Amino acid sequence: MAAQAMSIAPDLDRIDLTDPGTFAGTDLRAMWARFRAERPVHLHPATAGAPPFWVLSRHADVLAVYRDNKRFTSERGNVLATLLQGQDSASGKMLAVTDGPRHRDIRNLMLKSFSPRVLAPVVEGVRRRTDALLDEALERGSFDFVTDLADHIPINTIGDLMGIPEKDREQLVHWNTQTLSRTSSEHGAEEEWLARNEILLYFSALAAERRRHPGDDVLSALATGLVDGRPLSEDEIVFNCYSLILGGDESSRMSSVGAVLALAEHPEQWQALREDVDLETATEEVLRWTTPAMHFGRRALTDVELRGRTIAAGDVVTLWNSSANFDEDAFVEPERFDLARTPNKHVAFGHGPHFCLGAFLGRTHVSAMLAALRTKVGSIEILDDPETLYSNFVYGYTSLPVRLGRAPRG
Ligand code: HEM
Repeated sequence: MAAQAMSIAPDLDRIDLTDPGTFAGTDLRAMWARFRAERPVHLHPATAGAPPFWVLSRHADVLAVYRDNKRFTSERGNVLATLLQGQDSASGKMLAVTDGPRHRDIRNLMLKSFSPRVLAPVVEGVRRRTDALLDEALERGSFDFVTDLADHIPINTIGDLMGIPEKDREQLVHWNTQTLSRTSSEHGAEEEWLARNEILLYFSALAAERRRHPGDDVLSALATGLVDGRPLSEDEIVFNCYSLILGGDESSRMSSVGAVLALAEHPEQWQALREDVDLETATEEVLRWTTPAMHFGRRALTDVELRGRTIAAGDVVTLWNSSANFDEDAFVEPERFDLARTPNKHVAFGHGPHFCLGAFLGRTHVSAMLAALRTKVGSIEILDDPETLYSNFVYGYTSLPVRLGRAPRG
C-alpha cells in the first residue's frame, strides 16, 4: 500500500468507511494507527440508509472474532456491503456466508480440490505462465504491470482448476473487477449488480454442462459431489463457483502488483530478494504488506463485551485486516517492509473456521512472481503513479506503468 500524502479527518467520527472514496483520499496507515490507539472498538456512525456498525482495528480483537463462530455469524453477510443491507443472497449456500455443519460439509467437499497434492500441476502452471508473461514483458521493457501482466495469471489458474474455456476468461476478469471493487466512482451500483448476475448465469450454464459431461475440475466436483448422500443444490453450486472466481482472481492479482510496487519503493529489499532471502518468508511479508482484502465482517449473535464496550446481539462488526496487519502489538516495526520478517502472523487470509480456502494458491501466485522477478529482472522503475481500485473492500491497483530491465543472466 503506497504511502499517500493525504489528510485524515481530525475527528474519527467523520471518517466514512462505507465510502470507497475514503480509501483513495486518505493516508490509510496513519488513519488505522489512530483508530488502534484512540478507538480500538469504534462505533461507526450511521450513514445514509445504513445503520451504525463496529470497527475493530487491533490484531488481537480481529483474531478473536474470526475465531469465534459461536457468538459471531457470517450467515448474514461477511463484507460491509451485504452486512449493512442485512443479508447476503447467497447466505447458507456459499461457503463464506454459511456456518455450522453445512459450512463444514461443503468446505470438506471443496477442500479435496485444494490440497497441495491435487494442486501440484496447477502450481507448475502458475510458474510457467508467470515466467512466460514476464519474459514477454521484458522484451517490451515498458508496460502496464496490471493490465499487461498480473491480470492474466490468477484467472487462468482458477480457469484451469474449474475447467473454464479459455475464450471466456477475459470477460470474467472484466465482470470480477466490476463486481466487488469498482474501478472508479463513475461505475454505479447497477453495473455491479449486473456483473454479478452475469457471473451467476455464466456458471449456471457451465454447471449444467458439467453435470452431463463431468471432468476432473472443481466445477465438476461441485456439480456432481454428494453431501450426506445428496447432491448440492443449483444455488450452492453456482454461488460457490462465483466465490471461487472472485476469491481466486482479484486478491492474488493485487498482491503481485503490490509486491512490485513495494520492491521498487524499497531498493534494499529488492536487493535482499535478489541475494538470499527465503521465498516463503518473503511471500508472507508481501501478503502482510499488501493485504488485498482490507476487511471482512460478522454479525453478533449475542451481546459481547470488548474493551469496555458492549457489542449488542444483531450488531454488525467489521474486522480490518489492513489495520491488524500493521498493529504495533503484533509486529515488530510493522511500518517496515522486511522480506525476512519472522514471525509473521498476518491475517491477510483471515483466521479460524473461514480461513481462506485458496491460501495455498494465493501464496503460490506471490512466490512465483517473486521467483520470476528475482531471476529475470535486473531493475524496476515505476513510470507513473499507480491508479488504485475504487473500493472499501479490496486494496489494489488498476494500472501500474513500469519499466523492467533484464537481469544480466535473466
Ligand atoms: C476466504 C483472502 C485467495 C477462495 C478468505 C478470507 C480471506 C481471504 C481474508 C476469509 C473471509 C472471512 O473470514 O469471511 C484471500 C487473499 C487471497 C485469497 C488475500 C490472495 C492473496 C484465494 C483464492 C481462492 C480463494 C486463490 C480460490 C481459488 C476463498 C474462499 C473463501 C476464502 C472459497 C471462503 C472460505 C470459508 O468461508 O470457509 N480469503 N484469499 N481465496 N477465500 Fe480467499
